Amino acid sequence: MVDLLLGLQWGDEGKGKIVDVLTKEYDIIARFQGGPNAGHTLEFDGIKHVLHTIPSGIFHKNAINIVGNGVVIDPVIFKRELDNLQKFNIDIISKLLISRKAHLILPTHRLLDAASEASKGKAKIGSTLKGIGPTYMDKTGRNGMRVGDLEFDDWKTKYRALADKHEAMIDFYNAEIEYNLPELEAEFCEGVETLKKLTFIDSEEYIFKAQAEGKKILAEGAQGSLLDIDFGTYPFVTSSNTTAAGACTGLGVAPNKIEKVLGIFKAYTTRVGSGPFPTELFDEDGATMGRVGNEFGATTGRPRRCGWLDLVALKYAVQINGVTELMMMKADVLSGFKTIKVCTAYDYKGEKIQHLPYNIESEYVSPIYTEMKGWAKDLTKLTTAEELPTALNDYITFLEEQLQVPIKIVSVGPDRLQTIRR
Ligand code: IMP
Repeated sequence: MVDLLLGLQWGDEGKGKIVDVLTKEYDIIARFQGGPNAGHTLEFDGIKHVLHTIPSGIFHKNAINIVGNGVVIDPVIFKRELDNLQKFNIDIISKLLISRKAHLILPTHRLLDAASEASKGKAKIGSTLKGIGPTYMDKTGRNGMRVGDLEFDDWKTKYRALADKHEAMIDFYNAEIEYNLPELEAEFCEGVETLKKLTFIDSEEYIFKAQAEGKKILAEGAQGSLLDIDFGTYPFVTSSNTTAAGACTGLGVAPNKIEKVLGIFKAYTTRVGSGPFPTELFDEDGATMGRVGNEFGATTGRPRRCGWLDLVALKYAVQINGVTELMMMKADVLSGFKTIKVCTAYDYKGEKIQHLPYNIESEYVSPIYTEMKGWAKDLTKLTTAEELPTALNDYITFLEEQLQVPIKIVSVGPDRLQTIRR
């Protein structure tokens, strides 16, 4: 049995926290796409921890964590993540398994990302510059290096050929980026040596067997549905399928083995990087959301753009993913707003529409809002659904009616314990 956990907006919905909360219900937590562009933040026992590649189940004793074939791994960042975990005394060798088919991010992939962004000028994607796009390009271009290659003696020959090709491509961009490749390569080799100490597996085979043994598996997504390479706000997207289908290709899970699809969204909306965002606020309300919600990128530290909940986009994400249960995060951040707005339709070139059109740039689309009463109550100490203020319950009921999916969890703070089940 496989359940999926996916972000339904532009990422940063709080997947790390929810995986951490749910882990005790699962035997295996598996990441299926993305790479260290993700930053999954977990808080418990007064400790705040950010994971980039390692699945968010790593802090639980009994869960096995898998980095699936759909993930791209940067050995340098991976080593840093492992070093940061040392103080927790986790048995990494038996608890963290890496797919041989996962692709590797080379230092030159990162440089190519920077060169490509620099050459785009104002049209830049706002990439995290972790080499994600160039690595997936090499994967689909059938040139990539995979974790399994590291088990063969000739991996450095493969590495050299690919890095040389990348250097020529960097020259082509003619972007002024400075780098010291030998230094980056030394760091890369050190990362590779650390990675090689871990357990490599044929993850699809491992997952078939686990399913046959009746193990419960949670597939953990990264980024969000609106950053999906096919269904997101292209070209301002990431380079993988962040939606439900990505779990099938990124782990080797058959579609008919998926049971629950847990969709996670914030009570409002945020976005980092460039690209359209119809409900973005440029006023005091947006600044309040950013400040109270501490909306800064976990990977890059960039301030996140903030705005009201966009139900048109959320409905689209619910449909694309076949979401069966919803989880609403950061409800506490909206406490104190007199009025809560929800975008329930778009004005698209003068016409009222309720679906996501091909282009949602602000020159074509403006949001049409439904207004609801806000609540003043501080939610951060609440532990049961009965204590939620009436206005918040009305907000939740309205969203459930619109989306036709139950909201099972309401998160009222970053800590594991600030999680209300309904
Ligand atoms: P890339 O995946 O690093 O190339 O970035 C492409 C776009 O996706 C940029 O707008 C990034 O800000 C955004 N992005 C990538 N990863 C995340 C994430 O984990 N959370 C939120 N946004 C992300």
